[in-house]
Amino acid sequence: MNGADQVNRPIASGTGNAKVIVLGEHAVVHGSPALAAAMTNGCEVKIEPWDGPSHVLLAEGAFECASNHPVATALGRALANVELPTPVRVTPHFSVPVGAGLGSSAAFAVALSRALASFCAPRTLDRGLVVQAVEGCFHGRPSGLDAYLAEQGGIGSFTRAEGFTPLRLPALNFVVINTGIQRETSTQVNRVSDLLTRFPNIVSPIFATIAEIVRDGIRFWQNNNLKDLGTCMNINQGLLDALGVSHPANQRAVELARASGALGAKLTGAGGGGCVLALTDCAETADRIANGFASGAAFATVLGEDK
Ligand code: MEV
Repeated sequence: MNGADQVNRPIASGTGNAKVIVLGEHAVVHGSPALAAAMTNGCEVKIEPWDGPSHVLLAEGAFECASNHPVATALGRALANVELPTPVRVTPHFSVPVGAGLGSSAAFAVALSRALASFCAPRTLDRGLVVQAVEGCFHGRPSGLDAYLAEQGGIGSFTRAEGFTPLRLPALNFVVINTGIQRETSTQVNRVSDLLTRFPNIVSPIFATIAEIVRDGIRFWQNNNLKDLGTCMNINQGLLDALGVSHPANQRAVELARASGALGAKLTGAGGGGCVLALTDCAETADRIANGFASGAAFATVLGEDK
């Protein structure tokens, strides 16, 4: 049977949210808090039965689970936890840049687990195992923040020990700028872990300072003190650079955003390229800053909620 014959067969789908970390990435892996928000876009996964080996269909082609494409490998590990009634074609559609610090792998993991739950009998499926299997492929030692936000959405603070605490925060205007440089989260996370092992007396206080930045940043946001929240983002960027996870492309985007009127700017997510997040005073400034970058490289977004 070819693909055309299969169009009338049932298709299952699921979605997962992308996210932005406003303050505290990397330190959160080692127990500090982070402040983060889900985005409304992310990943949608469609699953259809297929005659032939299970595979993932990406823009660059179809990859069987046994191939060494990272998404196919992740799919293979996820499917090892599932009793499938038939082989499948899995088609993810991403509405955020992939491998850019916006939680696309967790969004894929959650979307896939939801689609599989709807495709198989849900009680035969442990969605948590599917999410863990996919996240484990891209990540080494995830804090759990990306997976939580991909699943639950919302805005709030997160620690490994206490999980997610939702916060009511007024709506603020940000810009997300994609440097276009892709990197592996696991490489970036390992880089920080190595630094901690080699220089514990230096790196632990950096984590402690980032924890203070997160706590103060939340207070400044709650009080609508945008100027000091922006300064917290700038200090956080300096410390992420000290941890070795920034990149000249991050620094260039941060400086351009600040010079164009952002109140604060920093990398968001794992760094080493990926995305930069900039805080602005209003929607017009956010649009103007976004339009100052190459076409399609930046977009304005609102985090928090209107009272
Ligand atoms: C990745 O989006 C954020 C990191 O803090 C890793 C994690 O929290 O698992 C770098």
